Amino acid sequence: MHTQEAEAVSESNRQWILKKRPEGAVRDSDIVLETGAIPKPAEGEIVIRTLWLSLDPANRAWMNETPTYMDPVPVGGPMYGLAMGEVVESASDRFSPGDRVVGLGRWAEYAAVPADAFQPLPDMPGIPGRDVFGVFYLVGPTAYFGIHDICEPRAGETVVVSGAAGAVGSIAGQLAKAAGARVIGIAGGEQKCGWVTDNYGMDGAIDYKNEDVGERLDALCPEGVDCFFDNVGGSILDEVLGRMNNFGRVAQCGAISMYNADAPQPGPYNYLNIVVRRIKIQGFIVLDHIDRYPEAYEHMAGLRSQGKLNWKLEEDEGIESLLSAFRKLFSGENAGKMMVRVAA
Ligand SMILES: NC(=O)c1ccc[n+]([C@@H]2O[C@H](COP(=O)([O-])OP(=O)(O)OC[C@H]3O[C@@H](n4cnc5c(N)ncnc54)[C@H](OP(=O)(O)O)[C@@H]3O)[C@@H](O)[C@H]2O)c1
Repeated sequence: MHTQEAEAVSESNRQWILKKRPEGAVRDSDIVLETGAIPKPAEGEIVIRTLWLSLDPANRAWMNETPTYMDPVPVGGPMYGLAMGEVVESASDRFSPGDRVVGLGRWAEYAAVPADAFQPLPDMPGIPGRDVFGVFYLVGPTAYFGIHDICEPRAGETVVVSGAAGAVGSIAGQLAKAAGARVIGIAGGEQKCGWVTDNYGMDGAIDYKNEDVGERLDALCPEGVDCFFDNVGGSILDEVLGRMNNFGRVAQCGAISMYNADAPQPGPYNYLNIVVRRIKIQGFIVLDHIDRYPEAYEHMAGLRSQGKLNWKLEEDEGIESLLSAFRKLFSGENAGKMMVRVAA
């Protein structure tokens, strides 16, 4: 196996180390920024210089001891995160120094990672690499598979999306709209509800922080709800479940209201409605569909070129801002897809 080295790299590597599995919300002492040496690649690995890191609500679950769809982040090791980077050293035939790649990286300036966990950054004409990474790489396909494979909205049906001003929810709402559905988005605050209707073209918005969600659903969905794309879980899921029509479909994308819980959470009170209304609820993980990403890219790029797909990016600067950026996902301070530019 050959080893190739890039011309010049920095001498040190700052990385966020998981010191302790958090209980509830992440504390400053749970994950700490430390400086170490730039790693060398083992056989089959590449070393990447991280350019962008994506902050995702699921990062919180990866910190727990309980495995999710992947192994937990080891305590004492660098935190995992989806990364776009430049290969600086390669011990794999898959990539050479200078290649731009995306995959499961580390909250680190440099990381040695298995080459087969990375892909070339997709080339999307007219769309900057930062947007390709932030919106097309994970967020867009998540919305696409949840909407098209599970919700399957038909023209004239009513679709509700929670987390509707966020990265995944804003795309999901626009995809449902493009399929001909009437779409109601649920988001926190007046400003975000304005984006839901004005930027993302949904037909109505519910401000769950200041309005009674049940009353507003009754007003905006007088004929009930056919599809629900749920990012939030908890009481919002309950309110929508209670208003689903016969043979309704729920794409269970996430449940961010529960990710920081430090005790078991109650199930939905309207659970029996699943039987009475013959509702299909399906959870999904976008990574299961990685072979079909090109289908999602093509669909989204087509809508984008017709002016039917908008997004917002929330970009923080510097490796030191990762933890504060991550926290924005839970306070709702992120105005769109949460990303950190680690290096230019
Ligand atoms: N299944 C998959 O493969 C997959 C892939 C990617 C993401 N996801 C899931 O998709 C969901 C959205 O992720 P994203 O990356 O697009 O994040 P995002 O929506 O851009 O950001 C998270 C948003 O969640 C909202 N939120 C936070 N705490 C909340 C609470 N207690 N109740 C209601 N809303 C709350 C906030 O918006 P407000 O200001 O509106 O409250 C916040 O801005 C998450 O559940 C994530 O885990 C799933």
